[in-house]
Amino acid sequence: MVLTFVNTAVVGTGAMGRGIAQIAAQAGSTVWLYDTQPAAVEAARASLVDQWEKLAAKGKLPADQVAVLAGRLRPASALADLSGCDLVVEAIVENLAVKRSLLADLEAVLRPDAAIATNTSSLSVTAMAHGMKHPERLAGFHFFNPVPLMKVVEVIAGLKTDPALCGRLVDYARQMGHTPVQAQDTPGFIVNHAGRGYGTEALRIVSENVADFATIDRILRDQMGFRLGPFELMDLTALDVSHPVMESIYHQYYEEPRYRPSVITAQRLAGGVLGRKTGEGFYRYTDGKAEVPPEPAVPEVPEMPPVWVPARAARRAEIYQLLKDLGAHIETGAQPSEKALILVAPLGHDVTTVAAVERLDATRTVGLDMMLPDSATKRRVLATNPATRPDMRRAAHALLARDGKAVSVVRDSGGFVTQRVVATIVNIAADICQQNICSPQDLETAVTLGLGYPLGPLAMGDKVGPTNVLEILFNLQTVYGDTRYRPSPWLRRRGALGLSLLHTEN
Ligand code: NAI
Repeated sequence: MVLTFVNTAVVGTGAMGRGIAQIAAQAGSTVWLYDTQPAAVEAARASLVDQWEKLAAKGKLPADQVAVLAGRLRPASALADLSGCDLVVEAIVENLAVKRSLLADLEAVLRPDAAIATNTSSLSVTAMAHGMKHPERLAGFHFFNPVPLMKVVEVIAGLKTDPALCGRLVDYARQMGHTPVQAQDTPGFIVNHAGRGYGTEALRIVSENVADFATIDRILRDQMGFRLGPFELMDLTALDVSHPVMESIYHQYYEEPRYRPSVITAQRLAGGVLGRKTGEGFYRYTDGKAEVPPEPAVPEVPEMPPVWVPARAARRAEIYQLLKDLGAHIETGAQPSEKALILVAPLGHDVTTVAAVERLDATRTVGLDMMLPDSATKRRVLATNPATRPDMRRAAHALLARDGKAVSVVRDSGGFVTQRVVATIVNIAADICQQNICSPQDLETAVTLGLGYPLGPLAMGDKVGPTNVLEILFNLQTVYGDTRYRPSPWLRRRGALGLSLLHTEN
């Protein structure tokens, strides 16, 4: 393929500008570097050469390429030096007024057919283009940090962006070795919008005292395969970055309850408890290593009660098989005996409601999360209700841990931990599709590459079963009376069909 942009400029050679310059040079472009701080240009050039030397030392780049790539870098001392460029990518400070002023200066020096791209992550491309002589020549080109390793880039069309420019940026991204996804100019674009469910719902769970941070992290890693739990992730990103993003998207969508941030992160941010970089976040860090509180031990239970499962439990046949495999004494009568542990498996509802509605003895009732088949998870999660007797809680914990599988016991809430978080992620993703912000395929690609989730959110919904996701959301809405859980119409319509493989034109 012919190189789409032969002469590329990067304006703002900080963390992001350097990374963009690196992959542009690797694609074959001559790359002009400009920054208002002249020292930043030299620092960027030196760090890029250092980076290529390291890659060559590791055998990831032919040794003779270091000089070739370094030769493609052109430090610039004035914006006028960029006059011959085909594309300018700006990665300067995230401030609308400063960016608009740069765009005006660029239009004064560039050829009329030269393109401009902005790496903004939170400003509107349309707003930035307002006041330009040729707003059609500006598009969003949103990379992630660190650019060479994060292989996805969002190509954003503002209201007036020439669609052909987006096509050229898509081609160029591929030449850079990246995967482009295309999105409309909306708050958070795709990745920062789709990422709203994970942390905010986990924070709500913590705020209800359902479980502590470490337990929620363990559950989401082990049940759904997330690489980092939400609190580990917030510690890594740091709250001075992630809390303002939560607030910004919430307000930009006019206080849409699905994106509502939490007072927990607001307070921690105000108190300077930011995460790994300050040595203390949700976890404490010693020599960069998190201090993780130990898991509660499995209780010793000399005499195990029999177990009874009501007819309406989710995956009842699977629960029977599991109990059999664990060597439990299963009661199959219409009612439990006086001694029996009662195991319920609600979707979205709390254990307390199930016990009340089904007229079960709440003191002996414990919930088991069966949203996913037992074989698909590395951890079982039990929930008590406020009346659950301690001996019944201990018996359920010991029984479900008999084969050595990890077990967490949490307090009662609508929908356990994973049900709530996954249903929220799927629902937000469905709403992104509903708004036609991007194609379902690009959504899946952006989330897996940009957020590192084990599955795209729509595939996640299919794994759980779209009707199960809907049931969880409907019940969460009842339990909490919160429109935050109202299912997106897109999800409701596709609920019975499967989410990820549908034709977008329907
Ligand atoms: P940074 O602070 O590391 O670098 C910004 C550079 O721009 C500095 O070297 C500064 O001297 C220079 N600069 C400021 N005003 C300028 C102007 N008027 N003209 C020329 N140079 C100017 O910032 P970073 O993190 O690289 O971010 C840059 C842009 O990329 C922002 O829009 C940010 O929102 C966006 N972004 C940042 C990500 C991140 O994780 N850091 C991820 C994705 C996007």
